[in-house]
Amino acid sequence: MADIGYDGKVAIITGAGGGLGRSHALEMAHRGARIVVNDLGGSVSGEGGDVSAAQAVVQEIEALGGEAVADTNSVATAEGGKAVVQTALDAFGTVDIVINNAGILRDKTFHNLTPELLEPVLQVHLFGAFYVTQPAWQIMREKGYGRVINTSSNSGILGNFGQANYGAAKMGLVGFTRVLANEGRKANIKVNAIAPVAKTRMTEELFGAAGDPMAPELVTPVVAYLASEDCDVTGEIYSVAGGVVARFFIGLTPGYYKRDLTVEDVRDHLDDIRDVEGFIIPEGPQDELKKLFETVSGGTEGKLS
Ligand code: NAI
Repeated sequence: MADIGYDGKVAIITGAGGGLGRSHALEMAHRGARIVVNDLGGSVSGEGGDVSAAQAVVQEIEALGGEAVADTNSVATAEGGKAVVQTALDAFGTVDIVINNAGILRDKTFHNLTPELLEPVLQVHLFGAFYVTQPAWQIMREKGYGRVINTSSNSGILGNFGQANYGAAKMGLVGFTRVLANEGRKANIKVNAIAPVAKTRMTEELFGAAGDPMAPELVTPVVAYLASEDCDVTGEIYSVAGGVVARFFIGLTPGYYKRDLTVEDVRDHLDDIRDVEGFIIPEGPQDELKKLFETVSGGTEGKLS
């Protein structure tokens, strides 16, 4: 099979001035994508700004013979999101791929969380994905092609201590991914999420030397595949770190059924309710609803299988 290439397709990569986004930008540019390197160049907590971060990556891409343009708009507002997409249109005339990667951290245990720690985190990660993807989505729908990759995190999927703000934003991106996957199906727009682990400025203190095998370049192959025409999946979540790739999925246990369910039934049958044997992985609400309607319209009471 031929190697994966992008044949001049236009990719917006948010937060691509360093870390994971820079790595995605370099690899995809090398394979023929035209890149909008978006980054406002702030600190890990989202303070300040430095236009040189995005420009430096554009220079790296150009030095390697690729095509890229810098964009320093913040993804955190609707105007900013539109402006990022406008940069793609002005430079390259279209957009085919959006990689929502921009992010900040403002960690605090929940009882100490303030609006100043909560709101910017939701705005950059979650609202930012809405604001950049929506204007691009209109274009993708019209041309019947698109790829969207959202950067989630095990902090939300599994629940990391001290990250209620970040975890909620990252799990919000899972819902966003799954709904868009559904809505994009008919227009050949594929939407997936990654939950990466990589040694970047965001994690280097946390991981120390143990993070050395977790180079951002080992996350990029999954993103680059999901961004390609070859991508065969939609609505999925991939765990990616240090060369390991796996799939997170949302499963549903068979459960327990009783027509006149009581509080005591829940207490007494908790093990049945939680038993994972025979679980399913619903592709969408229709798969759960089908089972539910079958059961409540005359199914046998008790532990389900
Ligand atoms: P990073 O700090 O190097 O990259 C994030 C980039 O986003 C920065 O360059 C920053 O300037 C940019 N950014 C922040 N706010 C922005 C805004 N409003 N508009 C445009 N750009 C903005 O960190 P890293 O690790 O490369 O993170 C990339 C993504 O991966 C983030 O969404 C992060 O939450 C996520 N992630 C990273 C993990 C890791 O192990 N490094 C683990 C799980 C998720």
